Amino acid sequence: MHVLVTGGAGFIGSNFVHQTVRERPDVQVTVLDALTYAGDERSLDPVERKIVFAKGDIADPDIVDSLVKDVDLVVHFAAESHNDNSLHDPWPFLRTNIIGTYQLLEAVRRHDVRFHHISTDEVYGDLELDDPAKFTPETPYNPSSPYSSTKAASDLLVRAWARSFGVRATISNCSNNYGPFQHVEKFIPRQITNVIDGVRPKLYGSGENVRDWIHVEDHNSAVWAIIERGRLGETYLIGADGEENNKTVVEDILEIMGQPADAYDLVSDRPGHDLRYAIDSTKLREELGWAPRYENFRAGLEATVAWYQANEAWWRPQKDATEAKYAQLGR
Ligand code: NAD
Ligand code: DAU
Repeated sequence: MHVLVTGGAGFIGSNFVHQTVRERPDVQVTVLDALTYAGDERSLDPVERKIVFAKGDIADPDIVDSLVKDVDLVVHFAAESHNDNSLHDPWPFLRTNIIGTYQLLEAVRRHDVRFHHISTDEVYGDLELDDPAKFTPETPYNPSSPYSSTKAASDLLVRAWARSFGVRATISNCSNNYGPFQHVEKFIPRQITNVIDGVRPKLYGSGENVRDWIHVEDHNSAVWAIIERGRLGETYLIGADGEENNKTVVEDILEIMGQPADAYDLVSDRPGHDLRYAIDSTKLREELGWAPRYENFRAGLEATVAWYQANEAWWRPQKDATEAKYAQLGR
């Protein structure tokens, strides 16, 4: 099998490529990535000689067609992925997440290639903190931010191309990932690298917002389960029952790194900040027999702290520009 991985130089995509090369030696991997500020070819160094890397834009129909025509499967991770950036400048989100997905769909339609679309639980909006409910595949779409609304749009395009044109597609909507190779703009790496730099972690608003954490290896094993056993045209929600509020995560990071648990600052809130995400992954578990392997969040967090401590050369080049952007936002 030959798979085209879009966004394979980003956080989840690069971990997907590592996992695929490690566990599926019969799968040939080509990566298509534009190497935006969020992509880093060095994330693929460990597998460099086992894959093909193409630098290019998913919104460019020519490069997309030239690669899609030679593969059996496209796994589509490429996106503008950060909510805070989307509040500052939404256009790259519309271009990559909507137009880029459209160009890929047209190419897989032309060449009858199987398509798996990576999406987010944020398309469902948010839940109250004290609501026992979780997101299910039946939850109505209700995105809050420019980022999540463009991801919702891309999901709807995939559904339409599957129904109207018979594109062989599946969709997964996953909760918050953590693990190695995540950009330092994101919550967990930002706080770990702040502590390494002697800077106090920064919690938005009251710190009460809840995210449903899943290790990136578990997200990617679920993606393979859907590719191999999922029903075409279906949506699967991926989550590992990892709900934590942001304050607890920061306290854990501080404790793991030998700092007082209250050595953080509350900063101004993100506009429209979603309160809580929570995934009901029953369909994925019961229909496809998937289960997470990294269920101990604290152990996964310790390993992630250790990874950032050991890989400063990887993240250091991102850090100043990221903090300069946050300084402009007052966060
Ligand atoms: P990321 O920002 O770390 O990586 C995105 C990658 O896409 C980068 O390598 C970037 O260079 C590339 N890219 C961006 N625009 C491109 C374009 N126009 N053409 C080609 N490549 C382009 O993102 P991530 O956190 O790894 O997220 C990957 C996917 O998973 C996204 O679709 C995101 O919506 C989804 N997702 C993320 C999470 C999470 O917690 N991070 C959770 C659920 C779903
Ligand atoms: O739920 C899946 C989504 O998870 C993905 O679709 C997105 O691509 C991914 O970025 C993530 O979105 P969030 O907005 O939840 O992630 P982020 O890391 O930006 O923030 C996590 C929580 O931490 C959120 O409640 C905001 C808060 N936060 C974030 C930063 C960067 C802080 O309190 N302080 C911070 O410095």
